[in-house]
Amino acid sequence: MNVSIFDTADEAAAALASRVARALTERPHIVLALPTGRTPVPTYAGLRRLHAAGTADFSRATTFNLDEFAGVEASHPGSFRTFMERHLFTGVNLNSGRIHFLNGAAADLDAECDRYEAEIEAAGGIDLLLLGIGGNGHIGFNEPADELVARTHRVRLADSTTRDNAALFGGDPARVPREALSMGMGTILKAGALVLMATGERKAKCIERTINGPLTPRLPASFLQLHRSVELYLDQAAASLL
Ligand code: F6R
Repeated sequence: MNVSIFDTADEAAAALASRVARALTERPHIVLALPTGRTPVPTYAGLRRLHAAGTADFSRATTFNLDEFAGVEASHPGSFRTFMERHLFTGVNLNSGRIHFLNGAAADLDAECDRYEAEIEAAGGIDLLLLGIGGNGHIGFNEPADELVARTHRVRLADSTTRDNAALFGGDPARVPREALSMGMGTILKAGALVLMATGERKAKCIERTINGPLTPRLPASFLQLHRSVELYLDQAAASLL
């Protein structure tokens, strides 16, 4: 794994935004996979700024988001779709026809997961996949478990994950959906290149185990060790146990 450590979270975010902008220049038809969460907010702000400055052109890019809450309409204020509209999509020139999202409100959620896998295939696979990491080591919404699922699937969220996402639902963990749809570990590991960003001391233990620990479904991010192209963008706090 290629580990870059920055003094601050803002510096890590700026470097990652530049990394994505470079990828857009090198490969204008790039297929990106994108996370939500607190960590990527400054990266998306950086990308909006680079776009405004004329150095991040999304016009031919395709995006797939990693996950979405089940039972939530795209237009719901707590949906990941709404998050992405606010933090990235409305500030860059993505073609709306090339923005792909899991529909958490689909009548048949299993069929929705199959549809998403087929769309990723039809787009030629994911070139560059950005990740955050949960405080419990989840990536996407692949939660620690006895077994991990390879393809896009329905997942029951860990209590810690519903707590972490409460801000999207008026601060009340009880209002966070218990279920979500997420790309699977295989979907993630098939991407051409992976970039994981982590900031803050809360992530330090998981980051240390992701890099140095054994492969275990109890820490889904540990499976990133199997991929030949993984970059970690960390601030000092997240790297403090390395
Ligand atoms: C969300 C996602 C999650 C987050 C993780 C970290 O789309 O994929 O794996 O990346 O929960 O969230 P933050 O950045 O809020 O700590």
